[in-house]
Amino acid sequence: MFHWLEKNPFYFAAAISIVISFAGLIEIVPNFAQSGKPLVGMKPRTVLELAGKNVYMKDNCMACHSQMIRPFKSETDRYGDYSLSGEYAFDRPFLWGSKRTGPDLHRIGNYRTTDWHEAHMLNPPKIVPGSIMPAYDHQFENEADLETAYAEAVTVKNVFHTPYGPAFHRGQEAWDAHKSKVLEDAKKIAADMKDERVKAMIAEGKVPEVVALIAYMNSLK
Ligand code: HEC
Repeated sequence: MFHWLEKNPFYFAAAISIVISFAGLIEIVPNFAQSGKPLVGMKPRTVLELAGKNVYMKDNCMACHSQMIRPFKSETDRYGDYSLSGEYAFDRPFLWGSKRTGPDLHRIGNYRTTDWHEAHMLNPPKIVPGSIMPAYDHQFENEADLETAYAEAVTVKNVFHTPYGPAFHRGQEAWDAHKSKVLEDAKKIAADMKDERVKAMIAEGKVPEVVALIAYMNSLK
C-alpha cells in the first residue's frame, strides 16, 4: 500500500520526520505537566560546590557518568530514590548525561565520603580493583577557579532569581567579603584528606580542584 512512499525519497523522509517527532512529543509533552520548581527546602549550590561542578564539566566526568536515577527497582535499589525534575531547578546546565560507563552519581553524596573520593580520584583501580576510570592527579595541583564560580552564582541570581541572598552581587568587594566563607568550606573538606599537596595549598589560602570537586560530589544527595 505504501510502496509509492518507499520509492519517493522526499516524501519518505518527510514521513519519517513526522513519525519520529510524534514519538518525541509523546516523551516530551507529559514533562510540561511537571513544574520543575525547586523542591521545598532546597538550597542553591555553594560557591565551592559550583567550582567543583565546573571541574566536573572541564574534566568531562559526564562522558562516563549520568546524574539521573530512573524510576526502576534495579536503579532505586542501587542508587536510592529516583530523580525528580525539581532537584535540578538550580542546575545550569544540568548534567543528566546519557552514558554510563561508570555508575550514576546523582546521590553519590549519600554513600561515599571525602576520604574515599580522595583515594579514588588519585588511583581508581587501587580502590576498586579492575576499575577503568582514569586517575585525576592534576586535580591535586591545579587551583580551582572560585572567582568564576562566584560570578556564576551572581549571574544566575540576577537572571534566573536563584535565591543566593542579598550579599551576592557584582564587584570585587562583594567577592572579597564572600571568599573567606568559601575558604572555610574548603578547609572543612580538606580536614578529612591526607594528600600533602592539598594541605600545602590550603595553608596558602588556595583551593585545589579536587577539594571543590569533592564538595560538589558530597552535595549530590
Ligand atoms: C572513562 C570513563 C570514566 C570517566 C571519564 C570518569 N569515570 Fe568515574 N567511574 C568510571 C567507572 C568505570 C567507575 C566504576 C569503577 C570505580 O568505582 O572506579 C567509576 C566510578 C566512579 C565513582 C564511584 C561511584 C560509586 O558508586 O562507587 C565516582 C565517585 C566517580 N567515578 C567519579 C568520577 C568523576 C568525578 C569523574 C571526573 C573527574 C569521573 N568519575 C570520570 C568511569 C569513568
